[in-house]
Amino acid sequence: MQAWARAAVATTAIGAACIAYGAGYEVRSYRLRRVQAPVLPIGQPSMRVLHLSDLHLTPGQKRKVEWVRRLDALNPDVVVVTGDFLSHRDAVATVLEALDPLLARPGLFVFGSNDYYAPSLKNPAKYLMPDDGRRVLGTELPWRDLQAGLAQAGWNDLSNSRATVTVDGRVWDVRGVDDPHIKRDRYAEVAGAFDSEADLAVGVVHAPYLRVLDAMRDDGADLVLAGHTHGGQLAIPGFGALVTNCDLDRKRAKGLHRHGDSYLHVSAGLGTSPFAPIRFACPPEATLITLTALG
Ligand SMILES: [Fe+2]
Repeated sequence: MQAWARAAVATTAIGAACIAYGAGYEVRSYRLRRVQAPVLPIGQPSMRVLHLSDLHLTPGQKRKVEWVRRLDALNPDVVVVTGDFLSHRDAVATVLEALDPLLARPGLFVFGSNDYYAPSLKNPAKYLMPDDGRRVLGTELPWRDLQAGLAQAGWNDLSNSRATVTVDGRVWDVRGVDDPHIKRDRYAEVAGAFDSEADLAVGVVHAPYLRVLDAMRDDGADLVLAGHTHGGQLAIPGFGALVTNCDLDRKRAKGLHRHGDSYLHVSAGLGTSPFAPIRFACPPEATLITLTALG
């Protein structure tokens, strides 16, 4: 066999091995990431935030459901879910089953585009191309049923809404927007300086578009939580995410970073579209964020 043919065979074999690993193992290799954010007033004790995102649940994903249920053992003070709970019209009960042990705790959430519309088959190469702003939306999902189930547990829907909540005896001034990826964000409806008397100012959004992050930062957010990026979903070891699927830079595709005076935490999420069930060098994750006092 000639050298070029051997190289072609080797490249094909490596590609096939990566796909087999990413689709057969890593996509279900759920991880808990732990980070610390120094955002609390000086002298306050720490508190724990469980940040979940992009579950993309479909009926029958028992392993993911059981893994999420076990997160209750972390004893978080509050749970924040940054959207894309659903990936199927029959998955509302699956989501509520996964979250059930956590629903007794304080909770905050926003929806993502995949909660509103069923997933559809797209050209996978489009994911790596510049965003042309056009969205192909599937049939509407029963997101109102999910909203009602979460509200019944006392969780706060922050989609274009704000609230004052008490978490572990501390006052949080919280606000969120609906998903900017499909232009449902209405920041004007929640705009204005955060309450300087509150212990913590928190922003919540599904897709971390800069127009929302900038507005929350300018209004004085201490911490902003987001999802949507899937951490790039396919990353290159040593290089990181190729894309964020929004206008956030790829260096902040996941993890805790600064955004001016705010801290920004982007979750790589726990799922994928059912039409692209693969992750590479970017395992599905939940994050336990320990909030500590300013040093
Ligand atoms: Fe997602």
